[in-house]
Amino acid sequence: MYQIIDGKKIAQEIKEELRETAAELKARGKTFVLAVIQVGNDPASTVYVNNKKKACAYVGIESLSYELPQEATEEELLKLVRQLNEDSGVDGILVQLPLPEQIDEDKVLLAISPEKDVDGFHPENVGNLSIGRPGFVSCTPAGVIQLLKRSGIEIEGKECVVLGRSNIVGKPMAMLLLRENGTVTVCHSKTRHLKEITKRADILVVAVGKPRFVDASYVKEGAVVIDVGIHRNAENKLCGDVDFDSVAPHASAITPVPGGVGPMTVAMLMSNCVKKSLQ
Ligand code: GUN
Repeated sequence: MYQIIDGKKIAQEIKEELRETAAELKARGKTFVLAVIQVGNDPASTVYVNNKKKACAYVGIESLSYELPQEATEEELLKLVRQLNEDSGVDGILVQLPLPEQIDEDKVLLAISPEKDVDGFHPENVGNLSIGRPGFVSCTPAGVIQLLKRSGIEIEGKECVVLGRSNIVGKPMAMLLLRENGTVTVCHSKTRHLKEITKRADILVVAVGKPRFVDASYVKEGAVVIDVGIHRNAENKLCGDVDFDSVAPHASAITPVPGGVGPMTVAMLMSNCVKKSLQ
């Protein structure tokens, strides 16, 4: 039998803990204000942004909404980011991705003050993570670590394989697993003999962005499988990068989609905000 890692439940536990901490901080006069910027009205982004704002309200973090039109220019967005950087009443800044194509994402992420970069996307925070210094850590990979730890899965000494090398998930995921003393391999679209490598994994983290890409032939018997992907299939149902029905009988533990990694991203964003107010 395999264990289904319940991300919804673990995310709720984390938010409850943070809510208590935030209340104690508030009693000591310490609050956190998060500015959330959305450019355009991509339906998926609107859902994510609303989930983040709802979580803020639950935990006791104040959120401010900034909505720019789809046609907004890069300069308009940069001006808003700079204004929020300067605003001492704003503690965190989040720019929801993806951005419209006329805007250079890297330029915007670089413009966010590293001290307010609750997403952990600024190169200074990425660099701090890679050399083991404190700083904001990217929420989705931080959520994966919490899923593993809170499910009693040890990382130290394990063969960890990360499938995907994005700046937001794959690379910081590898860094975090390494920080937990895992033995880490990163695979990507140009990797040769992919299955031979993924089949070595005790812990396989899949973030390839392709629906149901990983089936049982990629997975070692008894592996822990974490699915970071989220897609809508032809019947409008959500699915991940992992073919759950094929893989689950071979895994010792696996995350479902939805209800696995997804809710953890928001919980870790809240954690980043509350931890910052503790400093
Ligand atoms: N788009 C998809 N995931 C994320 C995330 O974690 N943060 C932001 N800002 N945008 C995203």
